[in-house]
Amino acid sequence: MFEHVQPYAGDPIFALVDAFNADPRPAKVNLSIGIYFDEQGRLPVLPSVMQAESHILAAGGPKGYLPMEGDAACRAEVAKLLLGADHPAIRQGRVASIQTVGSSGGLKVGADFLKTWLPEAQVWVSDPTWDNHRSMFEGSGFVVNTYPYFDATTGGLRFEAMLAALRSLPSRSIVLLHACCHNPTGVDLSAAQWDALIPVLRERALLPYLDLAYQGFGDGMDEDAYAVRALASAGLTFFVANSFSKSMSVYGERCGALSAVCASAAEAALVMGQLRFTVRRLYSSPGIHAAKIVAHVLGDADLRLLWQTELAAMRERILAMRHALHARLQALLPGRDFGYLLSQRGMFSYTGLSAAQVDELREQHAVYLLRSGRVCIAGLNTANVARTAEAIASVLSA
Ligand code: LMR
Repeated sequence: MFEHVQPYAGDPIFALVDAFNADPRPAKVNLSIGIYFDEQGRLPVLPSVMQAESHILAAGGPKGYLPMEGDAACRAEVAKLLLGADHPAIRQGRVASIQTVGSSGGLKVGADFLKTWLPEAQVWVSDPTWDNHRSMFEGSGFVVNTYPYFDATTGGLRFEAMLAALRSLPSRSIVLLHACCHNPTGVDLSAAQWDALIPVLRERALLPYLDLAYQGFGDGMDEDAYAVRALASAGLTFFVANSFSKSMSVYGERCGALSAVCASAAEAALVMGQLRFTVRRLYSSPGIHAAKIVAHVLGDADLRLLWQTELAAMRERILAMRHALHARLQALLPGRDFGYLLSQRGMFSYTGLSAAQVDELREQHAVYLLRSGRVCIAGLNTANVARTAEAIASVLSA
C-alpha cells in the first residue's frame, strides 16, 4: 500500500534543532530556530502568562469545543492589538478575525480559502522568505513565485526592484509580505516604503497577505503593526496572520490568529463564513487553553502592561546582543563591515555565510545556524557571544 511513499528529507529548521539537541559538546550554541532564549539560554516562561494561567486554573470551567472561528474574547483582542483599539475598520465591522493553531494554522486556513475563492491567482513571496511559506501555499495548490527583496551586496532591501516586480503582476495576485522582522533576513520596509508600496498594491489590485509572527521584536507592538494599520487605513483588502508564539513565549500552545480586513461589513461576514468552513474541514476548531491565555493577557489591563514590559525586555536583549556580536566581529575583522547586524531587525540576521561556512561553524565550533546563513540573534547571550564571534571570524578568515 505504501511502498511508493517517498522518504521525507525533514524540515531544514526542525532537523537542525534535533541535531543540536543530539550534539554532546557542552559549549554548543543554538542560533537556528526562531525561538527567543533568555540570558541564561532558557526558554522563558513569562510571569504575565503564568499569572493568566493561574487565573484560568482557578476559574475552572468546562472544556467544551470552541466555535470554528475560536473564542470571541480572544478574537476581539487580536483585532484591537493588530489595528489599534479604535481603528475605523473595527468599528465598521470590516475585520473578520479567527483564532488559529499558531500563525502557521492561520496561514494555511487563509491559503486554502484563497485557493477556493481566487483559484486563478498565483502567490508571490519575497526572495528569500521563510521556507515553509512556499510549501504551505504549494500544498494548497498555488504556483509560488518570488519578487526581489534582499540585497546581498548591501545587506538591505532591493526596494525599487521589489516595486517594479509588483507593478508588473496580474491583478488579484497574492503578495506575501512580512509585516515586520523579516524572516530570514531581518530586513524590513521603513514606514515611508510601506507608504510607497500601498498605491502599487491598490493600483494593481493585488491581495496583500501579511505574516506578522514577530510583532514586538522589532521596534514595539504598535510600531511593528505599522503595515497592518497603514493598509487598513488605505482601505485595502488583505489578510494578516499573526502569532503569539514568540511574543508571549507560548510556542507549544499554538496561539495565533488570521484576520481578513475587508471592504465592507457584508464582505467580512461572507469571508468569516468561509473561513469557518475552511477551519471545519482542516481541524474543526482551535484549542481553548490558547484562547484563554491570549484573551486574559490582552484583556486584563495589569497583565497586558506586564506583558508589554516583558516583551520590551526581550526586544532590548536581542538588540544588546546585536551590538555585542557586531562589536566583537568588528574588532576581530576590522576590514569587514558588519553593519548589517545593527540595521537588520528582530530575531534574525542574514550573515552572508555560505552553506559550506555554516557547515564548518557547526562541525568545528558547535555553532548552529541555518544553511542559508540566517542567524537567530535571540540565541546569543553574554556567555556565548564572544565564542560565537570568534567562530564566525575564524570561518570567514579561512
Ligand atoms: C523559524 O523560522 O525558525 C520559526 O518560524 C520556527 C518555524 O516554525 O520554522
